[in-house]
Amino acid sequence: MGRPLILISLLLLGASAFFIKSSKLPEGQIQFADVKPLDAMPANLFWGNYSGINYLTVSRNQHIPLYCGSCWAFAATSALSDRFKILRNTSWPDINLAPQVFLNCDLNDQACDGGDPINVYAYIYANGTTDETCQVYKARGWTNGETCGHFQPCYTCQPNGRCGVPATYLKYNVTSYGQVTGNNLTQNVQLMMSALQQGPIACGIDATDGFHSYTGGIYTEPTDNWDINHIIELVGYGVNQQGTKYWIGRNSWGTYWGEGGFFQIIMGQNMLDIETYCVYANPDPNIQVFNSSSGALAEEKEEVKAYVEMKVEAAIEKRRNPGRVRRISREQVITSPPSWETVDAATLPKAWDWRNVSGVNYLSWNRNQHIPQYCGSCWAHGPTSALADRIAILRNNTFPQISLSPQVLINCNAGGNCNGGDPIGVYKYGHTHGIPDDTNQQYVAENPAKFSCSGTQISETCVPPPPPTGFDNSTCSAITNEKLWYVGDYGNVAGPNKMKAEIYKNGPIGCGIDATSKFEAYTGGIYSQWLLLPQINHEISVVGWGVAIDGTEYWIGRNSWGTAWGENGFFKMKMYSDNLGIETDCDWGIPDLTR
Ligand SMILES: *[C@@H]1O[C@H](CO)[C@@H](O)[C@H](O)[C@H]1NC(C)=O
Ligand SMILES: *[C@@H]1O[C@H](CO)[C@@H](O)[C@H](O)[C@H]1NC(C)=O
Ligand SMILES: *[C@@H]1O[C@H](CO)[C@@H](O)[C@H](O)[C@H]1NC(C)=O
Ligand SMILES: *[C@@H]1O[C@H](CO)[C@@H](O)[C@H](O)[C@H]1NC(C)=O
Ligand SMILES: *[C@@H]1O[C@H](CO)[C@@H](O)[C@H](O)[C@H]1NC(C)=O
Ligand SMILES: *[C@@H]1O[C@H](CO)[C@@H](O)[C@H](O)[C@H]1NC(C)=O
Ligand SMILES: *[C@@H]1O[C@H](CO)[C@@H](O)[C@H](O)[C@H]1NC(C)=O
Ligand SMILES: *[C@@H]1O[C@H](CO)[C@@H](O)[C@H](O)[C@H]1NC(C)=O
Ligand SMILES: *[C@@H]1O[C@H](CO)[C@@H](O)[C@H](O)[C@H]1NC(C)=O
Repeated sequence: MGRPLILISLLLLGASAFFIKSSKLPEGQIQFADVKPLDAMPANLFWGNYSGINYLTVSRNQHIPLYCGSCWAFAATSALSDRFKILRNTSWPDINLAPQVFLNCDLNDQACDGGDPINVYAYIYANGTTDETCQVYKARGWTNGETCGHFQPCYTCQPNGRCGVPATYLKYNVTSYGQVTGNNLTQNVQLMMSALQQGPIACGIDATDGFHSYTGGIYTEPTDNWDINHIIELVGYGVNQQGTKYWIGRNSWGTYWGEGGFFQIIMGQNMLDIETYCVYANPDPNIQVFNSSSGALAEEKEEVKAYVEMKVEAAIEKRRNPGRVRRISREQVITSPPSWETVDAATLPKAWDWRNVSGVNYLSWNRNQHIPQYCGSCWAHGPTSALADRIAILRNNTFPQISLSPQVLINCNAGGNCNGGDPIGVYKYGHTHGIPDDTNQQYVAENPAKFSCSGTQISETCVPPPPPTGFDNSTCSAITNEKLWYVGDYGNVAGPNKMKAEIYKNGPIGCGIDATSKFEAYTGGIYSQWLLLPQINHEISVVGWGVAIDGTEYWIGRNSWGTAWGENGFFKMKMYSDNLGIETDCDWGIPDLTR
């Protein structure tokens, strides 16, 4: 099934409009004017390989877990996230702005029924916005059941089922934004090229049936009866050996579509109306730590209070609701000597941090396992993020950036589910089946009605219409040509020296810890806590180590509780002692890029 079904159903899409042009331009927008002479611009420009560096953040799929006409929010946020990455010279952490904020709260647009990307930038300029770990994508908006309520724009949930606004969270802004294009189509090409020198932009396109079935190459279509009904991100342009000039675009339909989610389209012919309407925004380098108790609206304050209170309850419930279960097995696959037999820990540097190895950040995006609701899936998050980081290391950070889907492991019960699990199950699944990326399976923080390791529960995409309020009956079908990422050797590791050897040689590892209520309340610094018998109930990832000015050695850890927690979602943990058992039960897997 899968493929043919999708193609037939997609024919419906041409009829629906998911770009709705604003009747008037929002206040504060500034027409792009930094026009460069054509001969002063490079012949080729691609932000996925700009002087050897990839500045493009992770790709998305707007059509999972439900169908949603939210292209306008995806194109606007991914272009801006990429511009943040450019502004910050790819330094840790990547910022992945949340499209969901605009589906809930941007009432100038029509959520899953369409919108205009310029309103997204107007909204950010007026209100600021948050990242995906504050507002996970739900493929549903204010027109079909979501509301712009108390939990906007940031929330997270607790084991008792209650959700609340974190005491502080990060807010992002733009310094300016506006339209790139005007009324002169010839001039538009030059304006778009000029704007692209600064970073990606969002553009309108007519997503015809031909565009839907695009699989690669420079797109051209013989007809010219086009009308913009879709928004994409432009990430560059080029000229091939025959002298044909083209744009390079990124779609938000998942990596199974086109060229790994990207496309090329002929330049200078207004093909599919692509040279008609484009918008840009400039990211604000000042990222605000927003204090929700002092800055929030009055009614939101109640929720903040509730959140603080429930921390205590959460600590008690944790014992009944573990995220990580004790190892079911010590299963491992080792076909070549492990790192600690080939690397002498005594010769390793005093500090090693995969967020910054000689100025390069190798880490994949941040996650929050506890939205839209609490889910004890840490066991899937720690290993999938460590594996995605290791893929980036093996591929020298080249385009495209990869994320692996924790939801696939939950749907398949591969080691566990939202009630907890064993991280070794992730590696085992990766070794035998391969793990698809997040564009094949959206994280929903929920166990499926029935566990399954095939079909739509592994890899899917959905077709119109968006389901009405109160229904989740989107028509979805399995993707059959998805890319799978495999694991070769995998196993367990414990003890500081072996952990260091493994991290240094192969990249981040997963580790079990006893997540106490004190750890849950961590806001920064080097954490230490003595426990007589640490009871491993949580899985995190260790991405490096360091040494403080006073000589204290520490691990650098990645949690999966969102960027509002700890130091941008990360923590430092004292090495050798008083450390919640972090050195007692770790795991690793080596991506196999040859399969
Ligand atoms: C990036 O572009 C340069 C110059 O075109 C090329 O030599 C190099 O192989 C490219 N790198 C990747 C990873 O594609
Ligand atoms: C990025 O690199 C440029 C050029 O090397 C430098 O001027 C700028 O300060 C850097 N920005 C950040 C945020 O590191
Ligand atoms: C700012 O946010 C408020 C509340 O969500 C919303 O009503 C308003 O339209 C937003 N401003 C813009 C310019 O979108
Ligand atoms: C965003 O930046 C603009 C320009 O600096 C400023 O006028 C606006 O108040 C900022 N918005 C927020 C929500 O901080
Ligand atoms: C459109 O722009 C082109 C290139 O900038 C210019 O040569 C031409 O005169 C413009 N046409 C109109 C009608 O303004
Ligand atoms: C947030 O604001 C409240 C009220 O002004 C204040 O008591 C609290 O200390 C602030 N929290 C942080 C982390 O700054
Ligand atoms: C990376 O580390 C180097 C030295 O270790 C430091 O000078 C540089 O500022 C760091 N870069 C970032 C982006 O933190
Ligand atoms: C890895 O990428 C960097 C640029 O980020 C480049 O300088 C280096 O030569 C590359 N290494 C390999 C092995 O390709
Ligand atoms: C979903 O259910 C609603 C209400 O019964 C119905 O109107 C709609 O057509 C259904 N959608 C699909 C795709 O089956």
